[in-house]
Amino acid sequence: MDWLKKDKAYIWHPFTQHQTEPPHIIIEKGEGAYIFDTDGNKYIDAVSSWWTNVHGHAHPYINQKLAEQAAQMEHVIFAGFSHPQAIRLAERILKRLPDNIDKVFFSDNGSTANEVALKMAIQYFFNKGEKRKTIIAFDDAYHGDTFGAMSMSGRSIFTAPFDDYMFDIQHFPIPTDENREQLFEDFEKLCATNVVAAFIFEPLVQGAGGMKMYAAEDLDQLIGIAKKYQTLCIADEVMTGFGRTNTFFATDQTKNKPDIYCLSKGLTGGYMPLSLTCCSDEIYNAFLSNDKLKTLFHGHSYTGNPLACAVANASLDIFDQQETTYKRKNIIQQHQDFSNQIKDHPSIQNLRQQGTIIAMDIVSDTATSYTNPIRDRMYQYFLKEGILLRPLGNTLYILPPYCITKDQLNKVYSAIKSWLKKV
Ligand SMILES: Cc1ncc(COP(=O)(O)O)c(C=O)c1O
Repeated sequence: MDWLKKDKAYIWHPFTQHQTEPPHIIIEKGEGAYIFDTDGNKYIDAVSSWWTNVHGHAHPYINQKLAEQAAQMEHVIFAGFSHPQAIRLAERILKRLPDNIDKVFFSDNGSTANEVALKMAIQYFFNKGEKRKTIIAFDDAYHGDTFGAMSMSGRSIFTAPFDDYMFDIQHFPIPTDENREQLFEDFEKLCATNVVAAFIFEPLVQGAGGMKMYAAEDLDQLIGIAKKYQTLCIADEVMTGFGRTNTFFATDQTKNKPDIYCLSKGLTGGYMPLSLTCCSDEIYNAFLSNDKLKTLFHGHSYTGNPLACAVANASLDIFDQQETTYKRKNIIQQHQDFSNQIKDHPSIQNLRQQGTIIAMDIVSDTATSYTNPIRDRMYQYFLKEGILLRPLGNTLYILPPYCITKDQLNKVYSAIKSWLKKV
């Protein structure tokens, strides 16, 4: 079967410039941290397949739970009906979230989880008869590709063709040593106008914006300020959730807790599309009324899909066994050792780590950006080495599944060191 020819003939891939990018690699099998192509090559999936995979590909236990659920029931409408897998999942996620979070709303992906959060926040004030329209987000944020999520994201080449259609967002830079005082002051000034409905953020690490990292203490402070003026705080934990930053959720590292959590990606262990928008009873109660207008009119055909909920529950079973905690600790330690080895290399800048994520900017003639041409050369180099790394422009990062072995991770580090020697 000529998969490549047919792929090119029929498929429009995401985030792909089909005119210039090389043909796609056809993957037919996965096992642990490896994916295998149809030509018999194997690759270490060092980016967890777009940051989704946590326990490894084709995990036997998750496979078994998926098959059991498929034999029982594949899907059922989620309005007027519910099912045990969704109920179990909601209860278990709420146990892992802070006490102020009481309710779970289901959707299908990270973008829609954020759309739901935005609609919850805006309608919460609408239902209470308060006029709050302003939304605060960070520069360089990435909250997804649907229009609301794009609006809340930073303005970039991802949004440029649509900028005239974006609604107004007040963007602030992420906190740094240089801007901290001014940022807190400006942020508070805006919140104090009492027109800000929500403050949305990717806690501790801005993923697609270039793995930019900032301190938990600063985020804590911003959440504290927002809450002082009843601005709802939305933690987009789509990428950072499920242990990526060491703690189970990144905002486990802040004392002030968000009012809404958006979860996806690692939620199903990387198996299936599913997302959750989790909120407080205070928000939920503002939608309870005899007046139908106060309903949250939002839902998708596959909302609460039982197969996706079953794999999410299976993934949580594995998290409950604690073994992944040790695996994460090992990755964190290995990353630290690697950092120490390369930190003085002249070809890298801004070497940074947050839990299981390590990132660095490769020095090049062109500025640090998503379109930096060094990206394609690095991407191809690592593929030839049998490693899937997907640099964001000249920002190179490793975000591995927790099942990655010491040797596999060492292979990734060695390939990076060889690349650095080359440049
Ligand atoms: C922080 C964050 N939010 C939202 C999204 C969008 O998620 P999805 O691609 O599932 O729509 C992403 C995707 O990378 C993300 O990293």
